[in-house]
Amino acid sequence: MVRLGVNIDHVATIRQARKGIEPDPVAAAVIAELNGADGITVHLREDRRHIGDRDVDTLRRVVRTRLNLEMSVNAEIVGIACKVKPDQATLVPERREEITTEGGLDVIAHRVRIKEVVTDLREAGIITSLFIEPVGEQIRAARDAGAVLVEFHTGRYAGADTDEARQRELDVLVRGAELARRTGLRVNAGHGLNYDNTFELLKRMTGIEELNIGHSIISRAVLTGMAEAVSRMKTIIETAVN
Ligand code: PXP
Repeated sequence: MVRLGVNIDHVATIRQARKGIEPDPVAAAVIAELNGADGITVHLREDRRHIGDRDVDTLRRVVRTRLNLEMSVNAEIVGIACKVKPDQATLVPERREEITTEGGLDVIAHRVRIKEVVTDLREAGIITSLFIEPVGEQIRAARDAGAVLVEFHTGRYAGADTDEARQRELDVLVRGAELARRTGLRVNAGHGLNYDNTFELLKRMTGIEELNIGHSIISRAVLTGMAEAVSRMKTIIETAVN
């Protein structure tokens, strides 16, 4: 079985457009779980641009499946993770100016800090995944840092603009997954996965434990929910004036 982790950051992004209370990412998490999500993923960014501390606290109490907290190695965020105790933490690189996570962690360049954080999280009872490119040196560095899991960045596969490039990126992912498993690591994947590219990925890449998918699911939810939302408002208006 491959688990689906639904990333609900974008529900909070819409809420933060008005800095109000709707839509509530916690409600989105419950609906996702009731419809088969095997886990809920949120990224508590240092600038709190979408998910906030209160969301994470509430999700910890409400989520019935598994809460996966994406996070940087920033000391304040690590402290919050150790207190909240998500079921899983996924360490990601983070730049304030980026629109979304742009690539995998450089575990080699930051090995000392990453190892420290993996150890702190483990002592707090949290299993840690490292979001990395599916390449040999990062896989080996992830194992040396004490990670149990890696999440392969699938953004290059998702963004490939020719069939040839897509197949090349798939080959890299398949080889990376084999190496990671031989190294003793469990493998997740995510970023840029959508309704067109997920099937082929799973057909080729065996042994994946979990896919984390956000943007395409929230985008589809907006459009599939549009008809109900408009007709409900229309009914209110017509009922009021007739
Ligand atoms: N996995 C990681 C580590 C991410 O940072 C993100 C984006 O927050 C995702 C998965 C989900 O990516 P997408 O929103 O493109 O589906």
